[in-house]
Amino acid sequence: MKINENTKYSTNSDYSFLAKLLHWSFIFLFAYGIYKQIDNINELEDIYLLKSEMLFALVFLLFLIFRFFYMTKTQKTSLPADAPKSQRLASKIVHVSMYICLAGIAGSGMMIGYFFWLGLNSGPLIELVIWIHESFVSLIYWLISIHIIAAVLHRLKGDGVWNSMVPFWKEK
Ligand code: HEM
Ligand code: HEM
Repeated sequence: MKINENTKYSTNSDYSFLAKLLHWSFIFLFAYGIYKQIDNINELEDIYLLKSEMLFALVFLLFLIFRFFYMTKTQKTSLPADAPKSQRLASKIVHVSMYICLAGIAGSGMMIGYFFWLGLNSGPLIELVIWIHESFVSLIYWLISIHIIAAVLHRLKGDGVWNSMVPFWKEK
């Protein structure tokens, strides 16, 4: 525990280098996943695209699982020790929901691919899985927006949370 001299808050020490690397490199992986999104299920007729989508989703999921265990086993939130319980809870809910949603996007994507490969390329079952996939995508946009707004509010408050993860616009 170190005391942030500019404020009355005491903060945890920084996240590790690996924690920061996982956080920021995952953003590129996620952005690439959004960039190369499928616009129409019939695109999956191309077997090369189907295979590469499945491989991407698998790598995405394994990255996420590794990150989740590494973060929960070795790192602590950098919220100040005197942060209200409600703030700790809200932060935990948003973080855990992001993990669930991201895993849900990859998992439902792989189910779409598997059903398509089985020949189930239309009908209520595949439509339901596509709906789940798209709902997770909509939800993650909301969660990421809330997460970034919260991070900026912490930066404005100057309580050390921003500095613990973000390498630019540092608090003095
Ligand atoms: C982590 C990996 C993935 C990410 C980040 C991702 C992302 C997205 C996004 C952003 C959309 C558009 C949602 C919308 O417009 O509401 C989408 C739709 C879709 N994705 Fe994925 N996806 C992933 C994996 C997969 C996989 C593995 C498959 C199948 C092999 C797949 C098949 C589809 C289909 C069929 C749609 C709906 C297209 C339509 O509008 O008809 N996705 N995905
Ligand atoms: C795809 C976008 C993002 C995702 C999925 C994401 C996800 C997460 C997650 C799950 C955590 C909790 C620690 C962990 O398990 O790694 C976290 C921490 C953090 N993130 Fe992000 N993040 C994203 C983008 C950003 C951006 C753009 C910023 C800043 C502008 C940011 C600032 C922070 C900060 C300050 C923390 C530390 C919070 C704390 O210790 O309570 N994140 N992020």
